[in-house]
Amino acid sequence: MYRSHSCGELRASHINTKVTLAGWVQKSRDKGFMVWVDLRDRYGITQLIFDEERTPKDIIDKAKSLGREFVVQVKGTVIERESKNDKMATGAVEVLVSDLQILNESKLPPFTIEDKTDGGEDIRMKYRYLDIRRNPVKDSLIFRHKVTMEVRKYLSEQEFIEVETPYLIKSTPEGARDFVVPSRMNEGQFYALPQSPQTFKQLLMVGGMDKYFQIVKCFRDEDLRADRQPEFTQIDCEMAFVTQEDILNIFEGLTRHLLKEIDGVEVDKFPRMLFDDAMRLYGNDKPDIRFGMEFGELNAVTQHKDFKVFNDAELVIGIAVPGGNAYTRKEIDNIITWVKRPQVGALGMIYCRVNEDGSFKSSVDKFYDQEDLAKWVEVTGAKPGDLVCVLSGETSKVRAQMSALRMELAERLGLRDPKVFAPLWVIDFPLLELDEETGHYQAMHHPFTSPKPGQLELLDSKPGEVKANAYDLVLNGNEIGGGSIRIHDKETQATMLKHLGFSEEEAKAQFGFLMDAFEYGAPPHGGLAFGLDRLVAILGGQETIRDFIAFPKNNSGRDVMIDAPAFIDDEQLQELSLKLDIQE
Ligand code: AMO
Repeated sequence: MYRSHSCGELRASHINTKVTLAGWVQKSRDKGFMVWVDLRDRYGITQLIFDEERTPKDIIDKAKSLGREFVVQVKGTVIERESKNDKMATGAVEVLVSDLQILNESKLPPFTIEDKTDGGEDIRMKYRYLDIRRNPVKDSLIFRHKVTMEVRKYLSEQEFIEVETPYLIKSTPEGARDFVVPSRMNEGQFYALPQSPQTFKQLLMVGGMDKYFQIVKCFRDEDLRADRQPEFTQIDCEMAFVTQEDILNIFEGLTRHLLKEIDGVEVDKFPRMLFDDAMRLYGNDKPDIRFGMEFGELNAVTQHKDFKVFNDAELVIGIAVPGGNAYTRKEIDNIITWVKRPQVGALGMIYCRVNEDGSFKSSVDKFYDQEDLAKWVEVTGAKPGDLVCVLSGETSKVRAQMSALRMELAERLGLRDPKVFAPLWVIDFPLLELDEETGHYQAMHHPFTSPKPGQLELLDSKPGEVKANAYDLVLNGNEIGGGSIRIHDKETQATMLKHLGFSEEEAKAQFGFLMDAFEYGAPPHGGLAFGLDRLVAILGGQETIRDFIAFPKNNSGRDVMIDAPAFIDDEQLQELSLKLDIQE
């Protein structure tokens, strides 16, 4: 037996118990006649004491030789600690050591294994196994485990069956590039790693599984951000014989269960917002509704004067910044500089102070009198003491800019409290979106999403206006899940693919298997997938998913610990019928 107790377990009630502990040396203090060692494992830290009077000499000498992160096993007796530490769970006791075995030595770690470490991001990624010994990382992984267990428990209780689907497949388009795997046995051919198990879960519905889920890795070759990894995990779900309403209710139930079990938070029924309203009021399809600052459209109350900027603009929007009249001129200039950053891209910002006495002072007083400004204030809902910020320009651009400004100001005002949870369903997404680069329409969600009843006919005349049975679940301004009711008949699927630019042959080659399956009694079905990494991060009060992934990739998609991706040797290339022409 390596250990009788963990390092987080011993209390005053264990005094006089003989124990065996094993773990890592967090730190040691050598006072000559006495040595203290903090011994750490996953469960906590226990103080060990070695002293000249009570510990054999060879053991004391060995204790003095211990370095940080040495792995040791000790035997000893639990005694009362003279100076108790009420900040530590084991702080009432210490272990008087009678025997010490060094199980393994350790080189000096490249950063301190403590909650507040001196190691930068890069070095911690390279030695991720050491980083995992630190409480913040370890706790995040344990937190993720808890969430995952609750998900499995909840869905299993609702009669969902977890089914594994293959990783070596053919492209499933979710809007990113595929990672591909060459096949040795099929010369010149490639598998694609799934961007999601979308087609397989639909085939499981044709197979009569009725309620499926899977906690599954997905692979997408796309640009990385704080909330994106090239391989990430979904809670992927699908159900047969359901309406959109059924799906929203089931997965709202799951999310509410998680908020309660994991964060102890009870949330009322989730509000629902039309996609069009989300864009109009927040400039964004994943609005953070923990705070207000909704957009007010000001065209009607700004475009009758001589101010050319507004007169020429397709859209003029204002938001009321609570308490913003307290900003100094310098602070407002700083906000203007912020919106002009290339990442935001506004040309400038107009503002109007709402004074406590009910008067207004704007940066365009030359064009707008008090009566005009009163209308701005009314439309944006500004109160005395607020600041109205106004941006103008082309609709989609100005919405994106104002959305960025709204989030930035909310952050500065401390309105994005990670302990407050504001879930929201965004529904009625458009079926298609225009790809600015190619000028073609593409599926906004994926090509298997069904249009709203009666809208298929609009595909030819007004493709951009067709609405889909598609929905996203948003939590605190993050898209944590999305799904749709699917097309389940061959004809509609073929029409859809045709509109997405697939020739009949291409459609057959890529999705023939699905359309064939639709000819054998495919039930009406639909589903959704949560991004597990994002969900866990947000439930944990954070937005960077990397912290909740044991071995994440860095911003260039590299695993710097194992040094991947890497070149492969010529022999392997040949075996795979691959010839690379890269100048090294
Ligand atoms: P979607 O593409 O919206 O839908 O993905 C579902 C959820 O997965 C998360 N997500 C990601 N998380 C981390 N890194 C990424 N690169 C990444 N990409 C997506 C998001 C997102 O909401 N098959 C459909 C689901 C369905 O229709 O049922 C799908 O994959 O939280």
